[in-house]
Amino acid sequence: MKLPNQFYRPLAIGAPAPLREPPVKVERMIHFVPPHLEKFRAKVPELVKQVDVVLGNLEDAIPADAKEAARAGFIEMAKATDFGSTGLWTRMNALNSPWALDDMIEIVGAVGSKLDVVMLPKVEGPWDIAYLDQLLAQLEARHSVTKPILIHAILETAEGVKNVDAIASASPRMHGISLGPADLAASRAMKTTRVGGGHPDYKVIADAEPGQGPRASFQQDLWHYTIAKMVDACASAGIKAFYGPFGDFSDAPACEAQFRNAFLLGCAGAWSLHPSQIAIAKKVFSPDPQEVAFAKRVLDAMPDGTGAVMIDGRMQDDATWKQCKVVVDLAKQVAAKDADLARIYGF
Ligand code: GLV
Ligand code: MG
Repeated sequence: MKLPNQFYRPLAIGAPAPLREPPVKVERMIHFVPPHLEKFRAKVPELVKQVDVVLGNLEDAIPADAKEAARAGFIEMAKATDFGSTGLWTRMNALNSPWALDDMIEIVGAVGSKLDVVMLPKVEGPWDIAYLDQLLAQLEARHSVTKPILIHAILETAEGVKNVDAIASASPRMHGISLGPADLAASRAMKTTRVGGGHPDYKVIADAEPGQGPRASFQQDLWHYTIAKMVDACASAGIKAFYGPFGDFSDAPACEAQFRNAFLLGCAGAWSLHPSQIAIAKKVFSPDPQEVAFAKRVLDAMPDGTGAVMIDGRMQDDATWKQCKVVVDLAKQVAAKDADLARIYGF
């Protein structure tokens, strides 16, 4: 086991020192771009103004014969674009694939100083993070990258879920974890054929009452357990949790509901795979203005965060003060990025 005094040491001579705290950034949507396609690359300069993170996808959904083109397209788009405060991420191929090593060698070599985060798919345990951690340190040193490139794990195998605590705390390079419901469903032998969201057959049904007509039934959230487990692992390690993809682009209300459940449970953002999902994520992962207004009242009523007060008939104490601080702190971060919301929040 690594001793505590080794945890924050660079893993290669000449690599930058790992961060003690992850950067505070608004990351409501991680927008996926297929970088092998010129049509999508051409939209990136406009996209940068609309999203919090642009991610060049190299893994699933990129055909095997376009993997090199996607990697080259990502490098081209990274070089050609001024990302400003918008994050630049890539989703590399899985570590057991033929492309993973060259993904990192070529991308860090060409644009390592512009790259904020590498998303690592199919993470099974902390050993996967340790491997990428070491490799990134070697490449950062070789290419004089001065800002550490962070790692974001996708939680999408049964073994990964089992090891999620160890994954979240595997390295100071950890940025966060996203739920990958599609691969996770396959890994667990769930009987679904979808990318995220609920399923009409996963439900509870009311007791039968003689003469009462049809029995009420309610669809349940397939992802509740995993998201909650992931959020606890991330929050206790001081990193961020995210919901991943929602594949039915035609069902905006269901996408919004899935994103909102994740937000309420503690997630910071979600993936947007289609332009229509950008606005959904922005709405859901920016705190509700009425909640912010109420939270500000609580903070104002309890300036030192202790004691108990009644507001609108509801008891507030140190614990609700802390919840309100989470909401107001997030609203301040969002307001710093978004002038419209700053005005609505009254900051
Ligand atoms: C994402 O990669 C997923 O498998 O859901
Ligand atoms: Mg996946």
